[in-house]
Amino acid sequence: MEKIRVAVVGLGHRGRYMVQLAKNSFDFVEIVAACDIDPALWHETQWQQKVPMKESLPGTVFYEDYNKMLEENTLDFVLVETGADVHADFCVKALERNINVFSDIPSVATLAEAKRLWQAEQNSTAQLMTGANPNEWGFVNAMVDLYQKGLLGKPYYMEAEYIHCLLNPELSRQLVVHSPWRKALPPIRYCTHSLGPLLRIMEEDLRYVVCLGTGQHVNPDSLKDDMMAALFQTESGVMIRLLRAGAGKAAIGLHSYRVFGTKGYFERIAERGNAPAVCRFNSTELYACSRKLMEMPVDTMPPEYIDNPKAGGHGGADYALFDHMFAAFMAKKPMPISLRDGLRMTLPGIYAAESARRKGEKLTMHYPWEKEFDDDIRDLGC
Ligand SMILES: NC(=O)c1ccc[n+]([C@@H]2O[C@H](COP(=O)([O-])OP(=O)(O)OC[C@H]3O[C@@H](n4cnc5c(N)ncnc54)[C@H](O)[C@@H]3O)[C@@H](O)[C@H]2O)c1
Repeated sequence: MEKIRVAVVGLGHRGRYMVQLAKNSFDFVEIVAACDIDPALWHETQWQQKVPMKESLPGTVFYEDYNKMLEENTLDFVLVETGADVHADFCVKALERNINVFSDIPSVATLAEAKRLWQAEQNSTAQLMTGANPNEWGFVNAMVDLYQKGLLGKPYYMEAEYIHCLLNPELSRQLVVHSPWRKALPPIRYCTHSLGPLLRIMEEDLRYVVCLGTGQHVNPDSLKDDMMAALFQTESGVMIRLLRAGAGKAAIGLHSYRVFGTKGYFERIAERGNAPAVCRFNSTELYACSRKLMEMPVDTMPPEYIDNPKAGGHGGADYALFDHMFAAFMAKKPMPISLRDGLRMTLPGIYAAESARRKGEKLTMHYPWEKEFDDDIRDLGC
């Protein structure tokens, strides 16, 4: 089989992990080049990494300059693993050269970036795959399956929580030490893990948002709110409530979701103390469980990979992202999690942060595929 030629930009802990996953799990992947402005990440050992990358990737050429890397190599894919607030420029440059992009989340940091990225993909023969790994989780696929079989009816209210505080304090501390963007990014902007799965069972885009933040109570010197809560709504009135944590002392987490549909209910409640995470549902369409919550034997691992020892990363979801992306590339099919999907789950966080900055003002949201989006870029300044 012909090799798929891959490069990576951003060698923080996520970039280092993802590039090793691609190399070690997919025989047909060749890691041609890697880039970071900090050469120590290439030459030296790092947190959670005993062997320097230059030794574990002996055939890979390292660059400090992204443009040079793109110029000097023939590539099928670039993995964009720079900080969460700086993805778009790297993606645009690759797409302009007709190189496919795997972009980690969130997709963009501003509305103007969303417009540029959208246009870049429209003008390119290449595609962007959004690295929204929670969309691949087994319980998310189960939720989508219940929805598609008509067992939930039409969702009219949904909730998601992503609390990332004290469950693993050493990990949280290390992440902030090593990844500067984590210090100041408003928590509600890191919303794709929560909205991505729920938007899989919503045909409409989210249209309205109100959002508030707590300010800083846990650590008065922090640059971001301890908690932010947003209410989103579609034009037909479907609501999503999203709670995101920036700091806190609650030893709970990480991801919970609830779906209220016209014919049923689904929930995935994150682990609590000794109780493991649990998935349950009920449906008026199934006599036996119309009034009783049924537990589902499914969690993060996508069922198709349960017996696959290579399926690692966030409960198998990182492997699933690459597996589905490379399969789509080889079959010349659309990327399974498109740029449009990524913007649907990223832009609501940007509007929400702006709503919070305006003390909870209700904002109307648009997307680059709508003509009103240009007015938002001009008027909102976010
Ligand atoms: N999907 C997930 O589950 C998940 C988990 C963790 C992180 N992430 C995402 O992965 C991305 C990376 O996260 P991280 O924690 O590793 O971030 P990080 O800040 O630790 O690493 C980013 C790296 O990009 C490099 N960089 C910045 N500007 C550059 C430039 N101009 N040229 C080359 N390199 C440059 C930095 O030097 C740094 O090493 C983020 O977007 C984050 O949101 C996703």
